[in-house]
Amino acid sequence: MRIAVFGLGYVGAVSCGCLADLGHTIIGCDVSKAKVDLIKAGKPPIVEEGLPELLEKALSKGLLSATLDADEAIKNSDAALVCVGTPSTPSGGVNAVYLETVCRQIGEAVTRHNKTHYVVLSRSTSLPDIHRRLMSILEQASGRKMGEGIGYCCHPEFLREGVSVYDFYNPPKIVFGPTDAKTAEWCKGMYPTANHPGLKSCPTFFLSPEEAAMVKYADNCFHALKCTFGNEIGMICKTLGVDSHKVMDVFCADTKLNISAKYLKPGFAFGGSCLPKDLRGILDAARDTATKLPMLAGTLDSNEVQIKALLKRIVSEHRPKVGIIGLAFKEGTDDVRESPIVEVVQQLTGKGHPVKIYDEHLSVQALVGANRSFAFQMVPHLAELMTQNLQDVVSWADTLIVTHRLKPATWAAVSFKPGQRVVDLMNIPDLRKTGAGYEGLYW
Ligand SMILES: NC(=O)c1ccc[n+]([C@@H]2O[C@H](COP(=O)([O-])OP(=O)(O)OC[C@H]3O[C@@H](n4cnc5c(N)ncnc54)[C@H](O)[C@@H]3O)[C@@H](O)[C@H]2O)c1
Repeated sequence: MRIAVFGLGYVGAVSCGCLADLGHTIIGCDVSKAKVDLIKAGKPPIVEEGLPELLEKALSKGLLSATLDADEAIKNSDAALVCVGTPSTPSGGVNAVYLETVCRQIGEAVTRHNKTHYVVLSRSTSLPDIHRRLMSILEQASGRKMGEGIGYCCHPEFLREGVSVYDFYNPPKIVFGPTDAKTAEWCKGMYPTANHPGLKSCPTFFLSPEEAAMVKYADNCFHALKCTFGNEIGMICKTLGVDSHKVMDVFCADTKLNISAKYLKPGFAFGGSCLPKDLRGILDAARDTATKLPMLAGTLDSNEVQIKALLKRIVSEHRPKVGIIGLAFKEGTDDVRESPIVEVVQQLTGKGHPVKIYDEHLSVQALVGANRSFAFQMVPHLAELMTQNLQDVVSWADTLIVTHRLKPATWAAVSFKPGQRVVDLMNIPDLRKTGAGYEGLYW
């Protein structure tokens, strides 16, 4: 494959060396003469272990060149890997001006050089709206439609500076977000593991350009959050006279609940008898010792935001009768203590919305102790709102809020009303079949 690499900084320079090592012919392009001259000489413009050897090898095999001229780079390639910078604007937004310039140059040159199907891969990190804008710039500048002589692909980079050459050969994943089938086909040949024993195979995902873009942001937000979580646990441990590394070593050893996919899928607010209480306990200890834990404190605020956002969404449409399927803080229990959906019921009834509730594990008569007192303190007339018959709630409600998964056979036996609004907080496949009124919470 002949690939033009736009931007010869940290991402671009490593891409030049590694892609040439896989056998691709690379032409680097940058606006910086100093960087172009270094690549032309087979020398890295940045410090990165293993890169000098790769660039030297690529040059000696005739697989690497570089230019200041974008037109020349496009003329001598079938695809472009765009690695230009996307710095922050003064307000924190993504400055896409370098991306836009390069895409305009590519679009114009593709038609000027009569390319058959030119693939533009964006390695730079930018938001879904920017990718849409870049596709439109490419279409305007080339006079072609996506998939018809030109293709776009968001192809985020997950390599860590300092070990990026190692990461290239041992990738955690590869993500492509192509616009069309022809572009997707081209992408499949980019990392030929079969031809290169050093390149480890890894999970490869094909998504939409926008989804691929958000994977990169989700990754980096999570990494930042992990660092901050470790630091805040460190701070409170130190304050309380505990060795935080001993704590976090054990925390990290739990790959079932902690370092795992558990608790990570978008859904509704957390609740129950432990998480809110224990967070409050730690925050109280922090206050007592003047320790600031803004991220952990923000977790409780963020949880309230989830509840308010759901309420706003329910009342935004004038469909007053609200059916709730699942009142306990999660499925498989009758524990309603600090269940966020109890707060939703309290607010809705306070605003005058008629509410009916079905919960397969919950009988008001059987509630005892703290569970009973929380439920009745929040919603004193709870018993009048509850029914043991799921179909009753479904037939009665204008809007259904589903907070628990039920057995597929249970859903199959229920008759929904045509166009009935069904707000799914759990991403339940069976509910999607309910038709026009289905609304996923965040999907
Ligand atoms: N650095 C990383 O580890 C890393 C990891 C993943 C993603 N990213 C993303 O990749 C992108 C590049 O990051 P970087 O760290 O390599 O940036 P960088 O600043 O090191 O390199 C960007 C290069 O683009 C060049 N450039 C600017 N306009 C150009 C144009 N019109 N034509 C050709 N070249 C042009 C600049 O001269 C510079 O050499 C950013 O969007 C960044 O967020 C970076």
